[in-house]
Amino acid sequence: MVRAKNLGKRVGSQNLFVKNYAVCFPTLSFKDRVVAVALANARAFGFDVVGCSSTGNLANSVAAQSARLGLKACILVPADLEPAKILNTLIYGARLVRIDGNYDHVNRLCSLIADQYNWGFVNVNLRPYYAEGSKSVGYEIAEQLGWRLPDNVVVPMAGGSLIRKIKKAFDELVYLGLVAEKHVRFFGAQATGCSPIAQAVKNNTDTITPQRPNTIARSLAIGNPADGPFASRMIRETGGWAEDVSDVEVVSGIQELAETEGIFTETAGGVTTAVTARLIAQGRIGADETTVLCITGNGLKTTDCISNRFEMGRAVRPRLADFEDYINELDGNALAEPELALAEGD
Ligand SMILES: Cc1ncc(COP(=O)(O)O)c(C=O)c1O
Repeated sequence: MVRAKNLGKRVGSQNLFVKNYAVCFPTLSFKDRVVAVALANARAFGFDVVGCSSTGNLANSVAAQSARLGLKACILVPADLEPAKILNTLIYGARLVRIDGNYDHVNRLCSLIADQYNWGFVNVNLRPYYAEGSKSVGYEIAEQLGWRLPDNVVVPMAGGSLIRKIKKAFDELVYLGLVAEKHVRFFGAQATGCSPIAQAVKNNTDTITPQRPNTIARSLAIGNPADGPFASRMIRETGGWAEDVSDVEVVSGIQELAETEGIFTETAGGVTTAVTARLIAQGRIGADETTVLCITGNGLKTTDCISNRFEMGRAVRPRLADFEDYINELDGNALAEPELALAEGD
């Protein structure tokens, strides 16, 4: 957890925190917490083969952790996943099957496989343990705020499990007397190209109308979310809200978090950052309230969607004069500015 003063200044919050799973061990997303619990139970049940249907991060985490536990892994993903997420699964020796379809097709197929073979699919027949694993995020938020609860939490949503389980974690800590009771409002974040839960919240309903995903935020691209109805109800019951942002805003969100806080997040984090800015601008989140932004994954996994935003620049000869020419070319006569000017002979 880091205090996000610079981002807060940009978006208009004096009490903004980032829970940063971009650096989660071992595969750089919050799914590492989820999978630790699911695979501990897969072992207890005696499964030799484990697997999952995944939008990428879960695949990476199941592959890495099953390698360490000595379990065989068979992982199914939509064929159009980001290359880095494919590579980050294969490197651990997992069997990866790319399915010609979207996540909802993949998930349906996994249910059939889990019924047919005695395999432990972390988000199908082991789903209760997978879901409980998401509570770690809530426990860590409370602990790292000094054993207190925030006023607001902003959470990216795909299947809708994480946001619900953060709430469950907070409720358990209150029940155990480890934190003081507090009304926490939950805010969900989705990309407009796949926003079934956000739409349900906006329409004040538990009914999810499935969508066909079309967004660069592929880790959140679940058109028919399993926990969608419960997530929509919980968000509304806490007095929260859900918003969705365009792919252009997702990329700006990634850049804004990197430039202000030095945290490089993946597309899901771009969604969360852009949605948080919108919620503050709408007045749904107050400037002085304690707000935690859940940054759930790492930007090095989704570089394909931002690489065209940056020019690498030409190679410069290793001479001071060439360097000065180049900097002046880039920044207009920057080296003539008093604070940057080099003394003659430097
Ligand atoms: C980076 C990232 N953030 C958030 C989520 C959303 O999790 P959930 O499916 O529990 O809503 C996912 C799911 O894959 C994810 O990969």
